[in-house]
Amino acid sequence: MEVNITGSKKQTARSFSENLASLIAKNNILHIALSGGSTPKEVFKELAVHFKNEIDWSKVQFYWGDERCVPPDDEESNYKMANEYLFSKLEFPLGNIHRIKGENEPVEEAKRYADLLEKNLPNVGTQPQFDLVILGLGDDGHTASIFPNQINLWNSKAYCEVAEHPESGQKRVTLTGNIINNAKEVVFLVTGENKAQKVFEIIERKGNYSAYPASLVEPISGRLNWFLDTEAAKLLE
Ligand code: 6PG
Repeated sequence: MEVNITGSKKQTARSFSENLASLIAKNNILHIALSGGSTPKEVFKELAVHFKNEIDWSKVQFYWGDERCVPPDDEESNYKMANEYLFSKLEFPLGNIHRIKGENEPVEEAKRYADLLEKNLPNVGTQPQFDLVILGLGDDGHTASIFPNQINLWNSKAYCEVAEHPESGQKRVTLTGNIINNAKEVVFLVTGENKAQKVFEIIERKGNYSAYPASLVEPISGRLNWFLDTEAAKLLE
């Protein structure tokens, strides 16, 4: 595991973006799962402004780790956020965007997306392999859309499941643990003081860490990278 700590949310976004640019430069095609959340939003802004011409975006196939079950023009849509802050600012084939269709019936959409992953991604081990999965960390220790009260979804044999936000009841389609841990590389993008306690428990394996889905992120490849700002990292020893 690697932990990168920078001074601010903006610097975290810069540091991750630089890593992403060099990863893309070294590959002809990259299958990447994006995340929702406030830190990825900052990353999208950074990429659109400073890496628009630095990166050959046509090499990237975009997917998502999770999506809220809302239409693509809804403020809550993870696709909408990526489109607004990143895709709309770049030039690349729109066929490279493989969104989870939040407007579809959730159970059917989870199945459709799993089939799409099976078809598009190389099969490594016994299942599809992403080159990179980008994750956020919720204040409650959730990641993708697997929440502590549904932690059993992590071990589902299906590549995608329907989850429910514990407070709002909003349905989500999410990747499950087997496919996340089969990725060549997994990255957590986490900033802000409100994440510090969970970051500490998860990285140091202390306290209540085993109750948090994010603590189950352990890629078989061994390549797990945390990008944190000093606030999120402040309790680390
Ligand atoms: C989502 C997510 C989710 C998110 C975390 C962190 O769609 O909600 O993908 O896992 O990344 O909740 O979000 P914040 O960075 O906004 O706290």
